[in-house]
Amino acid sequence: MKNNRRASNRVMEIKKSAIHEMTKLSKEIEDVAFLSWAKPTSDTPNHIKDAAIAAVKNGLVGGYSETPGLLELREEIVKKLKRDNDIDSNPSQILITVGAIEGLSAAVMALIDPGDEVIFPSPTYSTHVRQVLLASGRPVFVPTIEEEGFILDIEAIKKAITPRTRAIMYCSPSNPSGTVFSEKQLCQLADVALENNLMVITDEAYEYFTYDEHRHFSIGSIPEMKGNVVSCYTFTKTYAMTGWRIGYLQASEKLVPQITKAHIAFAICAPVVSQYAALAALRGPQDCVAEFRDKYLSARNLMCQRLDRFDSVFSYQKPGGSYLMFPKILLDEGKDSIAFCQRLLREAKVSTTPGIAFGPTGESHLRLSFCVPEEMINKAFDRMDGYFKSRNF
Ligand SMILES: Cc1ncc(COP(=O)(O)O)c(C=O)c1O
Repeated sequence: MKNNRRASNRVMEIKKSAIHEMTKLSKEIEDVAFLSWAKPTSDTPNHIKDAAIAAVKNGLVGGYSETPGLLELREEIVKKLKRDNDIDSNPSQILITVGAIEGLSAAVMALIDPGDEVIFPSPTYSTHVRQVLLASGRPVFVPTIEEEGFILDIEAIKKAITPRTRAIMYCSPSNPSGTVFSEKQLCQLADVALENNLMVITDEAYEYFTYDEHRHFSIGSIPEMKGNVVSCYTFTKTYAMTGWRIGYLQASEKLVPQITKAHIAFAICAPVVSQYAALAALRGPQDCVAEFRDKYLSARNLMCQRLDRFDSVFSYQKPGGSYLMFPKILLDEGKDSIAFCQRLLREAKVSTTPGIAFGPTGESHLRLSFCVPEEMINKAFDRMDGYFKSRNF
């Protein structure tokens, strides 16, 4: 008898990740100049590693922690949220998660019913969209205003609200555009959420990496928003801890137990060794964060300078944060960003990410990452220089 078993409709609806496809293709190219990963290339600072090793040696990590995470870590996070995000909370409002991603997934699972609509100011981080699809929710893309630096289009967001709208989900500083949504705009967004009784789910992974006049603002710091926000954070970017898989979220005391139900189903608890590492990260010296930021700022400036020489090929908005930027491809062939990126990879040996990976508004763009050594940026742009000149652009 024919076996009719197949993957769920939810999973079938999710397209293959263009990011992972490009990574796979890049591996087939020797000596590739790699600008496609949004992960820190620095190593985790030594004092954090040492604390984790000590916890292992002292027999602290062999079992589960309490589901919401170690109390002393949650207490430390409460202090951090007050100091750096202006958010008042207590340990029962904190859930330690497996990176920001598991926290976001658990929040979406706890808030979204099948058919519920979630508004994404876009371009947006593709993983968020997948999280909504996995919960059988419906992503609704509302373009940001690119010419003004990919800022929120508050009027367009208002118009996109329907009786099925349940939440607005965004990351600021943004992956992929590097935009830092301003306090003024986020206050306007909060008003829209409150007027329409919507939840806001934030991804603040790049909170410490902002440049020039841009400042990170947490919408969860607005007192009226207390019951309407789930704020998600991570150690991944701040302390170069990608592989430790450790993050946390903050929400109301009413909501956290509901999100915890999803967290138990996904993970039981966050990795305990990583919880001790995170504790050391928060309690230890913070100069590493400033060092990473300075490095990214200098890499951003270099990338913008190099892009300025390609004004017939790309236009771009200077990113105010994160370590990513999202230039628009001015050439006709850029209308298909996947084909454009694949050609750039094959013919110039430069790996980038096609804009379409970040929602329909991302088409005709490519994402460039500047969390790489400056030599890598120069190598990639020298190659693109030769490539575009040979084609008379
Ligand atoms: C916006 C954003 N959120 C979350 C993550 C991943 O966070 P974590 O490693 O904490 O799960 C990334 C990684 O690239 C990201 O760009």
